Amino acid sequence: MITKFKNYQELSKFAAGKIVQLVKNKPAAVLCLAGGDTPALTYDIVVEIAMAESVSFAAVTFIGLDEWVGIERAMPGSCYHFLQQKIFDPLHIQQHQVHFFDSGAHDLQKECDRINKSLENAGCLDLALVGIGLNGHIGFNEPGVDPLLKAHVVELDQLTTATGQKYFTTSTALALGITLGMAQILEARNVMLMASGKKKAAIIRKALQEPVSNAVPASLIASHANTLVLLDDEAAAEL
Ligand code: F6R
Repeated sequence: MITKFKNYQELSKFAAGKIVQLVKNKPAAVLCLAGGDTPALTYDIVVEIAMAESVSFAAVTFIGLDEWVGIERAMPGSCYHFLQQKIFDPLHIQQHQVHFFDSGAHDLQKECDRINKSLENAGCLDLALVGIGLNGHIGFNEPGVDPLLKAHVVELDQLTTATGQKYFTTSTALALGITLGMAQILEARNVMLMASGKKKAAIIRKALQEPVSNAVPASLIASHANTLVLLDDEAAAEL
């Protein structure tokens, strides 16, 4: 289902409301939250509502979506650091609640196995909140990805490494990513795919209106029965 909002603020309010409602209904929910610019305001609003309404996130499990390989967790620009600032610290999330890729690990395949196991132990994602890359990627599932993959290490698309510079204050070498696979995201009970701004309009049109294909991984998500596609007017401009 596609829902349009007049602007980023309205889109973010809606997404935040959904997350908080899910945790109210199911305090032990399993959440997978994207990094990136798009959900930043959503997370601020989640924190605001959770504080105002005393909604506890103490039983929630967080499964990491993706990380830049070689970027330490503590480094601004890492997906972990972003979520720590936006969600984990403000909501007093304990370390045992968070299962996140350690992309500095010596054996990245072991990291994938560890996160696959954490997700298996948690059962199933209750919600995956994802953004969309300019190339249609979801997490770091880049164009051409095998949709049956679980967590894996991936050579990042050039557009991803170029666009990724926006998260870092100095030019940063980005080449590989580590990510949950499409199979795991597609198994989530609910997926929210968010897009905001003019620059996302063309890829949103491809994802929603061209034949479903792993050439645009977001099209696999968008066609999934349990997916809510949330767009602001600018992102929806080419539909
Ligand atoms: C980040 C992630 C990426 C982003 C996507 C959009 O954890 O999974 O797939 O969601 O690249 O990024 P923004 O929101 O910065 O446009």
